[in-house]
Amino acid sequence: MNRFLRACRRERVDRPPVWVMRQAGRYLPEYREVRKRAGDFLTMCYNPEIAAEVTLQPIRRFGLDAAIVFSDILTPLVPMGAELTFTPSPHIANPVREPADVDGLRIPEPWSGTEFLSETLKRVRRELDYSTALIGFCGAPWTLASYLVEGATSRSFTKVKSFAHHHPEAFDRLVDTLADAMAAYLRTQVEAGAQAVQVFDSWVGALSAEDARRWALRPARKLLEATADLGVPRIYYPNGGAHLLHDLPDMPCEVIGLDWRVDLQRAAMALPDVALQGNLDPGALMGPDHEIRRLTLAMLDAAPRRGYIANLGHGITPDVPVHSMAAFVRTVQEYRYE
Ligand code: CP3
Repeated sequence: MNRFLRACRRERVDRPPVWVMRQAGRYLPEYREVRKRAGDFLTMCYNPEIAAEVTLQPIRRFGLDAAIVFSDILTPLVPMGAELTFTPSPHIANPVREPADVDGLRIPEPWSGTEFLSETLKRVRRELDYSTALIGFCGAPWTLASYLVEGATSRSFTKVKSFAHHHPEAFDRLVDTLADAMAAYLRTQVEAGAQAVQVFDSWVGALSAEDARRWALRPARKLLEATADLGVPRIYYPNGGAHLLHDLPDMPCEVIGLDWRVDLQRAAMALPDVALQGNLDPGALMGPDHEIRRLTLAMLDAAPRRGYIANLGHGITPDVPVHSMAAFVRTVQEYRYE
């Protein structure tokens, strides 16, 4: 079986598998070339031929152990009623601001409106050999709710926190609706060929531990529980969630993704029953190759021998030189467990 899937299941592997969040993206010249021709980011997502091509670009260049399908966490909000554009940062023209707006969100039953992604997954799966796994993904309820209420990426999250504090019942309805919708959405991805799924909770770091438990972890748990029967490894990635380490053993998933602020050895002690993924600082890839190599080896030496997947602690940034990404990936690929 594939090295990535074996590590998710905490089985023995010859070396850690490696892939990188946002591995298909603007740091790659071949991505920028396709992006220039396609024009708009959403146009790329909606076109399975283009989306499959950019999904495969980093696999061809670096020989990674997993491909993550090219899309965005916000695209499934469109069939739910969101008017979404990217300029290039995301914008929602009809944000959720009143309890009544929550009732205006619909869950297509059965799930529909993201057939482009199913087609992309099928195309990518046909092109990959068995040594490369295919990952599907979605946003976690809190992270998606923050976009739906703020209408854009936020620094302070004041609108979504205001909504949650003023209208706790409507906010619970919002995150519960998102949990149900994303479970149905992930199901269509697995049916189309996704062999693992990652749930991105990118903004859980904006919450206190207490608020995170009620607004983020509870609905994320609902989403993960509803996907248990899919039979594929589930990765939960709570970005900025170091303060939640002792709440994470309750998450029903096979893998926890860690950001770079988490100490890997402490995480391994707190989470003995799941595989871990991460967590080099993406900023480390801005350094010289010898320093990338040193920091990567230190990470691999600190990581558990079983149930570990090498990755960055968050998405690769557009300004990373290609040789720096190559230095990171190669260091993992040359590593061996004795
Ligand atoms: O990882 C991959 O290679 C697969 C594709 C992928 C994208 N977005 C493509 C993308 C994935 C998994 C995502 C997830 C995503 N999108 C998250 C969660 C991960 C994280 O970073 O925490 C979030 C929060 C988003 C929302 C989003 N999409 C933002 C804030 C932006 C604009 C900021 C930016 O980087 O410009 C996007 C746009 C986006 N999504 C791009 C890509 C390649 C850039 C589009 C472009 O201009 O070409």
